[in-house]
Amino acid sequence: MRKLQDRRAAPCALLLLLTFTGMILCGSGDLQAESAAKLIPVTAPPMGWSSWNSFSNTVDSQIIMDQAKAMVSNGMAQAGYQYVNIDEGWWLGERDAEGNIVVDAKAWPALAPGERAADMANIVRYIHGLGLKAGIYTDAGAEGCFLYPDLGPVYPHVGSEGYYEQDYLQFAKWGFDYVKVDWCGGDKEKLDPAVQYAEIARAIAKAEAVTGHRLYFSLCDWGNNSPWTWAPNVGGVPADIWRTSGDIVAPIVAHHKHSGRLASFLSVLSNFDEGIHPEAQHTGFYNDPDMMVVGMPGLTDAQNRVHMSLWAISAAPLLVGADLTTLSAATLATLTNPDVLAVDQDSLGLQGVKVASYGDGLEVWSKALSTPGERALLLLNRTGDAASITVHWSDLGLDESSSATVKDLWARKDLGSFNSSYSTTVEPDDAVMVVVRGSEGKLTTYTAASGVDLRKDQEVSFTHVASRVHMARVRIAYTNPDKAPRYAELRVNGQIGTRIAFPPTGSGNALGAIWVEALLDRTGANNVLDLSPVSNPGPNIESIALESDSGKH
Ligand code: GLA
Repeated sequence: MRKLQDRRAAPCALLLLLTFTGMILCGSGDLQAESAAKLIPVTAPPMGWSSWNSFSNTVDSQIIMDQAKAMVSNGMAQAGYQYVNIDEGWWLGERDAEGNIVVDAKAWPALAPGERAADMANIVRYIHGLGLKAGIYTDAGAEGCFLYPDLGPVYPHVGSEGYYEQDYLQFAKWGFDYVKVDWCGGDKEKLDPAVQYAEIARAIAKAEAVTGHRLYFSLCDWGNNSPWTWAPNVGGVPADIWRTSGDIVAPIVAHHKHSGRLASFLSVLSNFDEGIHPEAQHTGFYNDPDMMVVGMPGLTDAQNRVHMSLWAISAAPLLVGADLTTLSAATLATLTNPDVLAVDQDSLGLQGVKVASYGDGLEVWSKALSTPGERALLLLNRTGDAASITVHWSDLGLDESSSATVKDLWARKDLGSFNSSYSTTVEPDDAVMVVVRGSEGKLTTYTAASGVDLRKDQEVSFTHVASRVHMARVRIAYTNPDKAPRYAELRVNGQIGTRIAFPPTGSGNALGAIWVEALLDRTGANNVLDLSPVSNPGPNIESIALESDSGKH
């Protein structure tokens, strides 16, 4: 790959240098002052419900209608939940002579005059009629999972291998808005997930092109093959979310065998831990630690709140697994707390990172929000004893000489203004979630002198980049005059690259900015950030900016 530009940076006192590569610019300023680049919002993680955890393969039309109605009547839809996702069990593995999926007419009847039974478009119309969106499920292999045969017969061939284009076109034609693609069959056949999912991604893109209908792509290999390293760029097409771990719980279906199963808080914590890959989660692509078990048997109200906090601080998809028709008032309040949802859905789209830990099990997690100077924090106590946890503004990249206000998101209470740090007692196995509003620390800007339009086979390198922390937030200022995102790959110090979406910035020359998190693992000014185009043309890169001092002024 030919290098188009090599941008070296030096301490920010130096404003202009000349080297053998050409002109090098370096500037510094605080975020509030840098109004030139307007923050471009990215797609938020999905919010909705999935049938698997509470209905397993008993799922049918009536169940879906009841859940969709409940989502509207209990206030969840108003709070932002919108997807009603049908998981495994909706078909029995039979195809007709043309290879079309045969749908069971009894399970999926006509729902309105003029409809024909066994047409999945019926249930989609019903869901859409309530103002919601509809999701469907398949497997990348020939078989599905049928891994819980404790709930009835096992049906072979419920995967889509060999029928990718046909099936995804069918899903889009039925009107589905979302598809989850599992990996049980692929795993059994020892297929290569990056290869299969690439083919699926292309089939989805093709179905979208034919129908003009967006099919949100959820990829589910349980994190087995490190999907965070390839999923956002699988086959040149992004997967929107990818699972990072196994199931939190096997299905708990009321009045059926195993209805006595319990969800476990420890599994919630371990799925959260396995889902942390901040370097891959940005610009609308998300790690998916599994459907939530909030409100399912086994968790206390306090544990449900911690679970919700963990998913929100990591900007995880919020897909509820509980039966929506039987939620308690406390569970509903947990699922619909607007401040907590706002953290999850924040338009910066970044995952929270652990910024401090004290001994074993006392942790501070911080998620940068789109309003400059704002951080959502989770003060997590994994121990069996109550403990005090302190958060220092300097650990958050905030100016520690400025005071900051603190709001408790579960108590929904302003706690006042604090200088340089905040401490509170956190109960055993519990967490406190707050938003801190302070002043940003300083950023150092590394400028590509005249903007670089990334063309095929060319890249821009920012060398001698320093960062305050290893997991750094990097702001990229750019323009993209198109109507659709352009894409570029960011590689740091030769690590595996991550594909970044650069949404449109408008037709003029006004700069836009997106933020990513990147592992700058070299100390001092020794990091190298390469950006190379994935789309042709790539985005027009103006500069990158990072927190490079201690937050002290
Ligand atoms: C896998 C997935 C689950 C669910 C089941 C269906 O285990 O991880 O979320 O889709 O398959 O069988």
